[in-house]
Amino acid sequence: MIIEPKMRGFICFTSHPKGCEQNVLNQINYVKSKGAIDGAKKVLVIGSSTGFGLASRITSAFGSNAATLGVCFEKPGTEGKPGTAGWYNSAAFEKFATEEGLYAKTINGDAFSNEVKQEAIEAIKKDLGQVDLVIYSLASPRRTNPVDGKTYRSVLKPINGVYSNKTVDFHTGKVSEVSIQPVKDEEEIENTVKVMGGEDWKMWIEAMRDAGVLADGAKTVAYSYIGPEITFPIYRNGTIGKAKDHLEATAHELTDYMSSFNGEAYVSVNKALVTQASAAIPVIPLYISLLFKVMKEEGIHEGCIEQIQRLYSERLYTGGEVPVDDKGLIRVDDWEMREDIQEKVSKLWDIAGSDNLSEIGDLEGYKHEFMSLFGFDIEGVDYAADVDETTSVKSIQ
Ligand code: NAI
Ligand code: NA
Repeated sequence: MIIEPKMRGFICFTSHPKGCEQNVLNQINYVKSKGAIDGAKKVLVIGSSTGFGLASRITSAFGSNAATLGVCFEKPGTEGKPGTAGWYNSAAFEKFATEEGLYAKTINGDAFSNEVKQEAIEAIKKDLGQVDLVIYSLASPRRTNPVDGKTYRSVLKPINGVYSNKTVDFHTGKVSEVSIQPVKDEEEIENTVKVMGGEDWKMWIEAMRDAGVLADGAKTVAYSYIGPEITFPIYRNGTIGKAKDHLEATAHELTDYMSSFNGEAYVSVNKALVTQASAAIPVIPLYISLLFKVMKEEGIHEGCIEQIQRLYSERLYTGGEVPVDDKGLIRVDDWEMREDIQEKVSKLWDIAGSDNLSEIGDLEGYKHEFMSLFGFDIEGVDYAADVDETTSVKSIQ
């Protein structure tokens, strides 16, 4: 079928298999252009199909020749109805990895469940023996906890009072004031921590070690965000920030747990990027469009793949100790948080409006990044051509 973008708000209901394939190929080529990384050879990526998780899988495979097992939650296309971008990304990843003789298998199911954890453990036992890196990169609005069977829903809300600031509708460039009501009760905070905190990460690591599939000296990494003060009420001091605090505390717990077998657990603080998850948070898209403008001007702009390639080559696998900040966090948001960058963004923030955003902000860049998440607006792709919407992920029957 011929597939066109169908956008509503920060959701796109279609995605393009060829565009997604080209996206994956571009990321592979970037990683190859940066040279080999002496990293892990057997890798599990939880949240492997889009965003930072996909970039991690690509960096492991094409930077370190690693065998990768991916876990994601995506929808295949059916006759006349395109699948999700993460599905097509996974199909493309497996195709390119297999072409280079790299092991690549994908499990499509709920990573929070015991069943998917067991399935992953069985696949590792059978095909790889053990893994030496586990990337934890889930972003989800809900989680069913297998222990109590309860489904928890996360919210993106401030905690201490109403938060009002500017936001942008990136489709139209219209900047407006948004007011976000604070949490109703403590439970909304706890629920968000249940979904996006570290509980499930810990369950994965313990289940894997118990089953003997986590190698001595293995590393595990989960991703977090801090960002600038203007977004603190909705991000770092909001409900999601509490979940990130929990994730970071879990890294310390896991470090203790893993030290008996020389393992290491880290949280890497990454930079703000256009992904399906971040587009849904008010205020953030406006901040990102200003940030992109400034970072591009300074020649230090990065996307997911540049971030993760740098995380691997300059933090995780330098051959020496992993450099961390005074809280034990890996920082690849260092360029975003540079004082001169933040000063410039903050000045632009004060004057940003509908009339000047296309000039002072990188609205075009934001839109392009958003479209490309779904395989649209990618150079070299013929969007008038018929494509196979039922493209399969080879390892999934
Ligand atoms: P994303 O939405 O692109 O990727 C989420 C991944 O999780 C996908 O592979 C999806 O299939 C998978 N997934 C979701 N629910 C699942 C489930 N129940 N079972 C199995 N797989 C499931 O998200 P993104 O932006 O790459 O986020 C990953 C991590 O990076 C998150 O912890 C996020 O907070 C963090 N981060 C994001 C930043 C941003 O600006 N986007 C900045 C810094 C950190
Ligand atoms: Na991801």
